[in-house]
Amino acid sequence: MSSLQIRNLQHKYALTEVLSNINLDLHTGETLALVGPSGCGKSTLLHIIAGLLTPSAAEIKHSFTDTACMFQEPRLLPWKTAEDNITLGLKALNVPRQARQQQARHIAATLGLTFDDLGKYPHELSGGMQSRIALGRALIIKPDLLLLDEPFSALDIGLKLELYALLRQHITDRASAVLMITHDLMEAVRLADRIIMMAPSPGQIIAEFNVQQPHQQRSDAWIYQTTAELMANPSIRSGFGLPTDVLEPTLHTPVQHSQDNL
Ligand SMILES: Nc1ncnc2c1ncn2[C@@H]1O[C@H](COP(=O)(O)OP(=O)(O)OP(=O)(O)O)[C@@H](O)[C@H]1O
Ligand SMILES: [Mg+2]
Repeated sequence: MSSLQIRNLQHKYALTEVLSNINLDLHTGETLALVGPSGCGKSTLLHIIAGLLTPSAAEIKHSFTDTACMFQEPRLLPWKTAEDNITLGLKALNVPRQARQQQARHIAATLGLTFDDLGKYPHELSGGMQSRIALGRALIIKPDLLLLDEPFSALDIGLKLELYALLRQHITDRASAVLMITHDLMEAVRLADRIIMMAPSPGQIIAEFNVQQPHQQRSDAWIYQTTAELMANPSIRSGFGLPTDVLEPTLHTPVQHSQDNL
């Protein structure tokens, strides 16, 4: 079983501390959602885990073998078609052109992209199409660790639901671990096994929730109810900078510990 273990991570940009005392574990097959307000250091943490940024201090153990990233902005290569962007990772693995094309067409269909779309260049595609291509580029190499930064934020609800299913399929097929950044608590409740709440200045983890409901049993009603309960949680409210003294009594679940089970 592969894992990622982070202990005592700190990061500074120049003299400003943006991440403080971050401790985090992620194992094969687990989906972790990182939730927190804008500027609390989520993308910085993802870049560190992806190996693109060296933290100011940390002990990191990382035994996953194939990591794929989807960044907050799609980062497609503008001079390559959608198809060539999707298959970049396969090309790096020396997969022959015909097999690359076949896989790109298959994944494009599951992402709701047409054959025509595959021949287009990034500037000819909408933001949502670009983010689906970026997701396809990450999924096509069948990574055992998938790092996703706001993967679904540019999509409408219909597409989101389709892509949630696609992501779940990938997780079960590949037993992949996923670290997913999202602003959307409902998305975290729908997809994650654990939700980590961060707060800013400096970025830190203030609470952790285990979502124990099996994925097949997460009905829309359960998701709405659980999200409403979480929105009334003082750690979540203070993390998002919301007032903590105007809670609906029926939804308020008192929290005794920093780690809760849902
Ligand atoms: N390259 C950089 N140089 C200096 N400061 C940076 C750099 N990148 C990010 N920061 C600062 O670090 C802090 C954390 O930024 P980061 O992008 O990690 O936040 P985030 O939680 O991903 O926010 P968002 O939800 O808006 O994407 C912010 O205050 C930001 O201004
Ligand atoms: Mg970010």
